[in-house]
Amino acid sequence: MTFMPAPAPFPLARPRRLRQSAWIRDLVAENRLHVCDLIWPIFVHDRDVAREPVASLKGVDRLSVAESVKEAKEAQALGIKVLALFPHLDERLRTGDAKAALDPNGLIPTVCRAIKAEIPDIGLLVDVALDPYTDHGHDGLLVDGRIVNDATVAMLIEQTLIQVAAGADIVAPSDMMDGRIGAIRKALEAAGHHDTLIMSYAAKYASAFYGPYRDAIGVKALKGDKTTYQMDSANSDEALREVAIDISEGADMVMVKPGLPYLDIVQRVTETFKVPTFVYQVSGEYAMIKAAVDKGFMDHDRAVMETLLAFKRAGASGILTYFAKHVAQLLKA
Ligand code: PBG
Repeated sequence: MTFMPAPAPFPLARPRRLRQSAWIRDLVAENRLHVCDLIWPIFVHDRDVAREPVASLKGVDRLSVAESVKEAKEAQALGIKVLALFPHLDERLRTGDAKAALDPNGLIPTVCRAIKAEIPDIGLLVDVALDPYTDHGHDGLLVDGRIVNDATVAMLIEQTLIQVAAGADIVAPSDMMDGRIGAIRKALEAAGHHDTLIMSYAAKYASAFYGPYRDAIGVKALKGDKTTYQMDSANSDEALREVAIDISEGADMVMVKPGLPYLDIVQRVTETFKVPTFVYQVSGEYAMIKAAVDKGFMDHDRAVMETLLAFKRAGASGILTYFAKHVAQLLKA
């Protein structure tokens, strides 16, 4: 048993002593946000224009390949270690069979090569899932109204190998198919990619908070919803089973997603497994803060920092957030 003295009675104990000024608050702070905690997700496109705004994500632009390289340099100069890449594909490239996901000269492989050519020592994380490439917006192949598991996994393996060949360091399967981590890990080993990291979206919930992301990657109208593969927000023990499976199949790191509505899951996962655990502050969480700030309901930077610190308090090793670059600037100031 840990020794826990009874708190002294007032006035021997005055908890406010530890809050009386900034220096003492800083001295006793239990958690701190560091730029190394941040992964910055960016959206890329292959049109002529350098940047185009994402209507639902104020302050977030889709970037051309050249602009992505420029932003990657700036991010690295600010101390950000890893970028996460998401593609906005031309409408015509989205098909039922998602074959554009397997193009070695597709958008994501092109961006990986362009960034690595100039900045070899920045970490690149790529999503493994089919939703940017399907005409229906699902993460897997749709057959007779069902998302088919094993045929999807076969494609995810190919998509992974193509992205890794182009320079991706971390593959992050976000599709929630069963067995994909093991299948991807085996394929990576067989191809000699012994050092490729897998960050599994292990506990990914079917969430309304992904709305703005679908706008960002250009999913016009998702047919149905993702409840047959993403998790039910009613569940907590199930998240532990999902994480256990993914670790046993060879994931190096796991993720909980979305963030703030699932802080309890972040805490349970970190306490249970003691593996690097990341949390994704998703598009809807970002948009909510931006909208409230726009209306004058709260202070932007304080709200952002408070949410990120909440993730650290819950035990997260790091955070994927669209605020990453801005926060890196704040932390540097
Ligand atoms: C899908 C994917 C999603 C996000 C990342 N990868 C959305 C979804 O599952 O529908 C969401 C990111 C965000 O909302 O910021 N493979």
